[in-house]
Amino acid sequence: MRRKLVAGNWKMNGSLAANAQLLAGIKAEFADGACDVAVCVPYPYLAQCQQLLDGTSIRLGAQDLSLHESGAYTGEVSATMLMEFGCRYVIVGHSERRAYFGETDDLISRKTRRAIDSGLIPIVCVGETLSQRGAGQTEVVVGNQIEAVLSLLSADDLSRIVVAYEPVWAIGTGKTATPDMAQEVHAMLRRRLREKNAEAASNVRILYGGSMKPDNAAELMAMSDIDGGLIGGAALKATDFLSIVCKG
Ligand code: 13P
Repeated sequence: MRRKLVAGNWKMNGSLAANAQLLAGIKAEFADGACDVAVCVPYPYLAQCQQLLDGTSIRLGAQDLSLHESGAYTGEVSATMLMEFGCRYVIVGHSERRAYFGETDDLISRKTRRAIDSGLIPIVCVGETLSQRGAGQTEVVVGNQIEAVLSLLSADDLSRIVVAYEPVWAIGTGKTATPDMAQEVHAMLRRRLREKNAEAASNVRILYGGSMKPDNAAELMAMSDIDGGLIGGAALKATDFLSIVCKG
């Protein structure tokens, strides 16, 4: 039985004051145990959030990591630095990084490798655009994205990753994949994972992301291969985030 994971992706949002208020709101009502919970916050706020989450079971994550370990890479942040601030998770290959920062399947695969080698759990994002879906290319696109990552992983590594299916057309748009649409892609992803390691694949958590909200979270997470959510906008409001967590 896979334990569900609900992770907030704050993206480039927040401030010291807003984060303190948001986490206070989440902590006040958070009931331990139902599912695993994490927040992936902007780099400058890792220390603040680490401190605010101390003593809770809410885990901390980052939204990206460097391919490099240390050295002359201006602007980059290494996996070791993230570990030092208590990160357990790191989002890798979010569609916004692919679209706006030119991240390729190759780079994303190597970042995934780096995260695992450093002891972080990568949340590897895959997903098709609207035109790719319209052209009937969803399985090919998403399949290629996951295969690129799997090509650099060993069978054992599957026990150290989380996958997130985030259809690009559903992110921040208010349009959500129907539970059946999402389940179809999740099942395909799990088949690909099974080819690598049948046993571990049944334990890999595959999250759905893309306008997941309190009113659609339950039906999405009820699907057999949907093991939680990667939440953008709704993770910035304590009541909405908690309401999704409750459905996990
Ligand atoms: P929204 O929930 O705002 O659509 O964002 C989803 C997302 O990109 C999470 O990584």
